[in-house]
Amino acid sequence: MEKNSILKLTDVTKRFGGLLAVDALNIDVKEHSIHSLIGPNGAGKTTTVNLITGVLPVTSGTVEFMGQNVTGKKTYEIARLGIGRTFQNIKVFQTMTLLENIMVGGNQLTKMGLVRTILDFKGAAGEEKMLREKAESLLDKLGMYHLRNEYMKNLPYGRQKISEIARAMMTDPKLILLDEPAAGLNPSERAELVKVIQQSFEEGFTFFLIEHNMDVVMNLSDDITVLSFGKKIAAGTPAQIRDNDEVITAYLGSAFVKNKEQEGAE
Ligand SMILES: Nc1ncnc2c1ncn2[C@@H]1O[C@H](COP(=O)(O)OP(=O)(O)OP(=O)(O)O)[C@@H](O)[C@H]1O
Ligand SMILES: [Mg+2]
Repeated sequence: MEKNSILKLTDVTKRFGGLLAVDALNIDVKEHSIHSLIGPNGAGKTTTVNLITGVLPVTSGTVEFMGQNVTGKKTYEIARLGIGRTFQNIKVFQTMTLLENIMVGGNQLTKMGLVRTILDFKGAAGEEKMLREKAESLLDKLGMYHLRNEYMKNLPYGRQKISEIARAMMTDPKLILLDEPAAGLNPSERAELVKVIQQSFEEGFTFFLIEHNMDVVMNLSDDITVLSFGKKIAAGTPAQIRDNDEVITAYLGSAFVKNKEQEGAE
């Protein structure tokens, strides 16, 4: 049975001055799937994520999430509708604990503004308790509960990266966009990351994954879209993409070599 679409991009285009960073892109992410977006550096992958999440306005085209047109909505509105994300460059608070870092992801869940928080200690304490319990249960699920009171700066990079996924989960997103989650991870951290994504997928999350590591992409993905210079050059299953001559020429040839080099260096 054909799955429903959860995220649909129709002719999405982004122009930066004379540069067409994303050129009439069509993508259909199916509900409860792992859909990867791959392609060479500068292909427009992060820009696509920024267009989906409303960080950047589209030049033209539409983004639909769960059947609703979300083009032009604010980032917090899109987050509230159920899209979470992580960033290509790690964004954690090094001098806060792991638990506190996760709790930050739920800030937009709380109804109280700053003034009320100051005036209404009891209400604020109740909300903090709610965030704490949620963050603790996420850490428990990801096998990091025992590390909750460690300062972020003392945790290995792989844990820090996984903690960003936990932080994104604080708002109960249906769809999570991951921008290069495996970058900079060593092989065992990478294996742990794959496990976390797989397990979260089994629990019901849908993922839109940007990744250069082909082991991660090929192992996890149901569908893959390939971008080169802003244009979609192929879409299909991992097996179809692996054997696609245009994809090999534009990207995979060098990506496989790069992955091999990285592994050799480790
Ligand atoms: N805010 C911006 N202003 C101008 N140009 C931009 C902006 N953001 C991105 N670009 C350009 O758009 C193109 C696509 O960039 P993008 O960051 O989306 O690539 P990417 O596929 O994520 O690459 P990478 O794999 O290196 O992360 C690049 O040529 C980049 O220089
Ligand atoms: Mg990028």
